Amino acid sequence: NYYAILMAGGVGSRFWPVSTQEFPKQFHDMLGTGDTLIQKTFKRLSHLIPKENIYILTNERYNDLVLEQLPEVTQKQVVLEPAMRNTAPCILYASLKIQKENPDAVMIVAPSDHWIEDEATFSKNVEQAFEFCSDNDALMTLGIQPTFPNTGYGYIEFDKSASEDIKSVNQFREKPDYETAKSFIDQGNFLWNAGIFMWSAKSVVKAFENNQPELYKHFEAGISAYNTDAEAAFIKENYPLAENISVDYAIMEKSDNVYVIGAEFDWNDLGTWGSLYDKLGANDNGNAVVNARTLVEDASGNMIRTKNNKIVVVDGLNDYIVVDKEDVLLIYPKSKEQDIKKVLQKVKDKF
Ligand code: GDD
Ligand code: MG
Repeated sequence: NYYAILMAGGVGSRFWPVSTQEFPKQFHDMLGTGDTLIQKTFKRLSHLIPKENIYILTNERYNDLVLEQLPEVTQKQVVLEPAMRNTAPCILYASLKIQKENPDAVMIVAPSDHWIEDEATFSKNVEQAFEFCSDNDALMTLGIQPTFPNTGYGYIEFDKSASEDIKSVNQFREKPDYETAKSFIDQGNFLWNAGIFMWSAKSVVKAFENNQPELYKHFEAGISAYNTDAEAAFIKENYPLAENISVDYAIMEKSDNVYVIGAEFDWNDLGTWGSLYDKLGANDNGNAVVNARTLVEDASGNMIRTKNNKIVVVDGLNDYIVVDKEDVLLIYPKSKEQDIKKVLQKVKDKF
């Protein structure tokens, strides 16, 4: 009864110029391991879940990329979105489909672009959660021990008195402001939301029905024509009309049956060049390097990547992102990595 929903519809614009709208980061070998991020994620999940039960949710423009990179996946498992509406609409749509196929389904919803090293522990935590979700009406999250007041994450307040591994959640707060995030961390009983969820199809559909009745009605009508031309026509017409909202705001903040299991593995949401640097770590010459041969003097803390193992000579440069592609060369301070999204827009306007 185990299923997975793999979210692969984001654009990853802070990883420009490698990640682009035509070819986003999840389809690149960002870590230099030989696998793309989506291939790594698929492998990780296939230890827990039958391959034919792993669904990929993505924009219709990435259909071919998915089939090419995951040859084990059939077209039926690729759920295509005609427009980007954030995670709530696509999760509801896929959950309804899975529920039609198997009313007793228990599933994990996972992004396709995270880095998790210790796969055995990941599997252990997910299995614990699956067992709990099979027996309880629960929306489960994986919690990460926070290290600083990151305002880009969701925060989970767990019940201090609970001693078991799976803890009841008092509140879920998506992307608080800095002061709030700081006070959460000082209080000690808050975790970051890893953005990985586990629940039964029944529970998640019910959570949408209770907390997002409009969105629920919007989709429920069309999914009754499960896997037919009528469903395809319905989605083409109606998907773009769904509200643009993330699953965190849509159901997690609003539900009172949220539970958390503390992740016992290292996790990194590979969102920026800096996070990739942190994950890879500096090599002997003090820089993180992917796909490049480097000659370095008086330079450290740089994130260096080229397309085809190019020779890169760096002298007197610290804490920069140096990324080379056919048509673009980016040399940009790591401290301003969040601004790459805006830079990309300026580049589009200018060229
Ligand atoms: N298929 C599909 N369609 N996938 C999408 C869409 C969409 O319209 N929008 C986003 N995604 C995918 C992204 O590619 C990513 O893998 C995942 O869904 C989460 O979206 P993000 O946009 O990266 O969310 P976030 O980082 O702002 O916040 C979420 O993740 C944090 C941890 O990384 C939240 O769940 C936070 O609470 C959490 O802390
Ligand atoms: Mg993210």
